[in-house]
Amino acid sequence: MAEIREVALPNTSDVYRPSDAIVEHSNVMAYARSRGFSSYEELYQWTLDNNEQFWADMASELEWFQPWEKVLDDSNKPFFKWFVGAKTNIVHNAIDRHAASWRKNKLAMVWEGEDGTQRTFSYHALNREVSKMANVLKSVGVKKGDIVTIYLPRIPELPMMMLACAKIGAAHSVVYGGFSEAALADRLAHSQSTVLVTADGGFMRGKIVELKKIADEAMARTPSVQTCLVVKRTGHTINMEIGRDLWLHELMGLPIAAADCPTEVMDAEDPLFILYTSGTTGKPKGVVHTHGGYMVGIYATLKMVFDIKEEDRYWCAADPGWITGHSYIVYAPLITGATSFMYEGAPNYPFPDRWWSLVSKHSISILYTAPTAIRGLMRFGEAWPSRHDLSSLRLLGSVGEPINPEAWKWFYSVIGKDRCPIMDTWWQTETGHFMITPTPVVPLKPGSATRPFLGIEADVVHEDGTPCGPNEDGLLVIKRPWPGMMRTILNDPQRYVDTYWTRLPGMYAAGDSARKDEDGYIWVIGRLDDVIKVSGYRLGTAEVESALVSHPAVAEAAAIGLPHEVKGNSIHAFVILRAGFEGSPKLEEELRAHVGHELGPIARPDAITFVSVLPKTRSGKIMRRVLKARAQGLPEGDISTLEE
Ligand code: PRX
Repeated sequence: MAEIREVALPNTSDVYRPSDAIVEHSNVMAYARSRGFSSYEELYQWTLDNNEQFWADMASELEWFQPWEKVLDDSNKPFFKWFVGAKTNIVHNAIDRHAASWRKNKLAMVWEGEDGTQRTFSYHALNREVSKMANVLKSVGVKKGDIVTIYLPRIPELPMMMLACAKIGAAHSVVYGGFSEAALADRLAHSQSTVLVTADGGFMRGKIVELKKIADEAMARTPSVQTCLVVKRTGHTINMEIGRDLWLHELMGLPIAAADCPTEVMDAEDPLFILYTSGTTGKPKGVVHTHGGYMVGIYATLKMVFDIKEEDRYWCAADPGWITGHSYIVYAPLITGATSFMYEGAPNYPFPDRWWSLVSKHSISILYTAPTAIRGLMRFGEAWPSRHDLSSLRLLGSVGEPINPEAWKWFYSVIGKDRCPIMDTWWQTETGHFMITPTPVVPLKPGSATRPFLGIEADVVHEDGTPCGPNEDGLLVIKRPWPGMMRTILNDPQRYVDTYWTRLPGMYAAGDSARKDEDGYIWVIGRLDDVIKVSGYRLGTAEVESALVSHPAVAEAAAIGLPHEVKGNSIHAFVILRAGFEGSPKLEEELRAHVGHELGPIARPDAITFVSVLPKTRSGKIMRRVLKARAQGLPEGDISTLEE
């Protein structure tokens, strides 16, 4: 079981307890008291025993155009429905209700560019900009139910465009700005988007990323795109195709971009967005999330876990193009009425203290990031953070992969000065929101995401579904539905059933291996499938392999992830060349660049080995586990199914 281990299980019994002041003033304790409980344990049990009541409590803190008739409809498992019959729009809760309240002049979004440019938006200003963009989208023919693809750098127009789509009932499909043309073309084609929103370029480490150029190549492969809206960010010369490409700022200056736009009334179960994520086989799958349940789930988790208070300045340092950004940069902070900070560039540009200078400059109180970023900054030593006043910080967070205890402790003591609890949040694109996570009242063990969130029933089980004993390796499962769960895979409901709900009947199989210790703390080990987490980004071996075989020299390829000190995993590829080609360092470099061009820099293999055969099962499946063991000089395990 769990033979593919991404990170060695930390062997530590340290426990870090939050201060009484943090516990006492936490949102989660306030909720516990309102329900008549004095302990988190009692509250958690109550949320399982009264699951629908708990989620209804959370939903009642938001505004609905029409209330629900039923909290959960489980009559057609695993196609669950939440808040059935309710009408809402996530944008009403994220913007409209704040813009109509005392918060209208509160800052919703603070942005700093890599070059130091700053832009700020109050809830009132955000409402105006999003409304104008929504009217622009309408003017180019976007209607309720359409899917708009967004391919933008980390600039305010990215969250605004997502919100503008949601406001008029169109679903957005955001493609991460670090992806390249094949990745963009596949997603455009699959979603049949007729409108693409991009920018001339973005800035990263002082250089221009040529987004429009990549978009042009992707659009050449996908004739479905009829309109391309272009945000001006870099101002360098780009190709603008007449009849297809339009500058957003020009349209925003026309009367069609009126500053008010009605927020579309949506059914709670109407799609809000599609987000493509890598799976075990084939092309990435389009995960579908909805307006109602997703809104409730992200709101409740952000409020309780990151303990959002009116005066907070909250910074989730992910990219809006991934689920972490969708849920916890864009939607949830706005729903809670918080002030959310966003930074455009690289953490160590121009110097390794850029992030720490931002914390002090903007008085950040909550910083949510990923183990890979922490490890990357840790390398530069304590002198860089110690130059800055980090006393505004109150809570820290981690997501994306298991955090090794050394990085945890560095984050805790050097950045958090031994007083900021770390919320190690385990969740997935598919789950929509945090599933296993501490709240500020839970004692912490470095490396463990601790306990399931309120209302969430998670467990570690054997292949037959029976629970594992303490510290036994098993499959991580979720045993009951939750509001922000994905509803299906776009155009492929059967794949949704097969991927998540068939392995263990009645349970959601997350695809991770984990252990539960004697205290009920869950320790996630890593992926069980052919998904590689590189710097916290999720990539499928299948995607890297298909990028490699699209090169004329390559006949066959296999990609694996090997442990890497900073990135968590790095990609190593094994390649069989076509007749007439010979392996050389030059060809290796060419293939690495080819993958970078097709998929994006994050997918570029660290090393490529030319081989004449690949280990396969008798049914022809590549045994990546064997390649991985060989590459690390480890025992190959059970090879009885290996082809002669
Ligand atoms: O393996 C788990 C890992 O990231 C996977 C989900 O990846 P993605 O859909 O890209 O979402 C990442 C951000 C929510 C999981 O199956 N993972 C995520 N968070 C953690 C984690 N592994 C351990 N600890 C975490 N906190």
